[in-house]
Amino acid sequence: MSNATRLRRRLVEHLLAEGVLHDARWMTAFRSVPRHVFLPRFFVPAPNGWAAIDNGDDEWLRRVYSPGVLVIQLDDDSGLWERARYLGAQPGTPTSSSSQPSIMAIMLEELRVADGHRVLEIGTGTGYNTALLCHRLGSGLVYTVDIDPELVGAARERLAEIGYAPSCAAADGAEGFPAGVLYDRVICTCSVSSIPPAWLEQTVPGGLIVTTLNRPIGGGLVRIVAGEGATGHGRVLARDGRFMPLRAHRFKQSKVPDDDVAWRPARLPMEVLTEVRSRFEFFAGLHLPGVTASREGQSTRLAHPDGSWMRHRQAGSAFEVAEGGPRRLWEIVEAAYEEWLGLGEPGRDRFGLSLDGEDQVIWLDSPDGRTWPLRP
Ligand SMILES: C[S@@+](CC[C@H](N)C(=O)[O-])C[C@H]1O[C@@H](n2cnc3c(N)ncnc32)[C@H](O)[C@@H]1O
Repeated sequence: MSNATRLRRRLVEHLLAEGVLHDARWMTAFRSVPRHVFLPRFFVPAPNGWAAIDNGDDEWLRRVYSPGVLVIQLDDDSGLWERARYLGAQPGTPTSSSSQPSIMAIMLEELRVADGHRVLEIGTGTGYNTALLCHRLGSGLVYTVDIDPELVGAARERLAEIGYAPSCAAADGAEGFPAGVLYDRVICTCSVSSIPPAWLEQTVPGGLIVTTLNRPIGGGLVRIVAGEGATGHGRVLARDGRFMPLRAHRFKQSKVPDDDVAWRPARLPMEVLTEVRSRFEFFAGLHLPGVTASREGQSTRLAHPDGSWMRHRQAGSAFEVAEGGPRRLWEIVEAAYEEWLGLGEPGRDRFGLSLDGEDQVIWLDSPDGRTWPLRP
């Protein structure tokens, strides 16, 4: 048995142990598709940025089959890998990656594909997820689109290397893949601030769309059932996942002033808001649309483009906040927390979505219940 085969088996064992892989057909796909073909080079975090690794390096194969995300592009610039290789680690923001195998497994299972389904993937990236779809369904039924032509070209070649020829296009995935056919399933491996109406229009009524929501606080995985035209309804899934956003859906980090600030006591730790495993996180995000969070030394900062900002820090066993701008963000958080307790601490799976063209809302418990605009 080759080293790669052994490492793939170990990866599948890891996914089984994590409880994210249950379907025998997807197990076979993960066991069979050579992830290393799609990752001849990538970045790894280094103290001062991102270091370049390629298939000549000792740790390459082990890293390829590790359960982590592997970044392949920074700042939309595929040339930065060469720079990092020859000049040393480079700073940058990841703009393409092979996602964590665990979130890939979750999304592929949540897609509920059956033999004969035609699937559209938004976000080709390395092509590894495309290859898993081709393995499961046959490449004649797989369509994939990425906004970056270089990535699409490389993915197409690598897919061909292992015998797959799905329909690949370099285009804005927000427009879907207008091949003149309807898809049974759409899977988006980047996150969106709202569901592009084109996806709903290009999915057969009753077909499913699986994607993640791009919300700086309270993102999450959703599954939509397409209706007629650009309509649909769906649920926020209990199993969570985070992805880099579709290019046009990126958030800018808002500024927090550096001046001296007056601190006051706070009741809650910041983790209730920023920790992905916090049950409150999703509800908090509904009350803080457009608010971004960042860490700076010992404090965490929240900020909104309207100029509202706050800092939160631990002081001994207590917490403190400082706030400024037109709105008091921490007061909003504490009021939302009280309301959340009163509603019985709803987790993600109590929320759903109703979609009609650009008119898209998130609801609690039922479409007639409390609603929030998906994209305020
Ligand atoms: C997390 S990566 C996708 C991972 C990929 N499925 C894989 O297995 O390697 C997200 C991808 O979304 C792409 N992307 C960003 N904005 C896009 C858009 N508007 N349309 C299509 N693709 C987009 C990026 O270029 C990036 O390759």
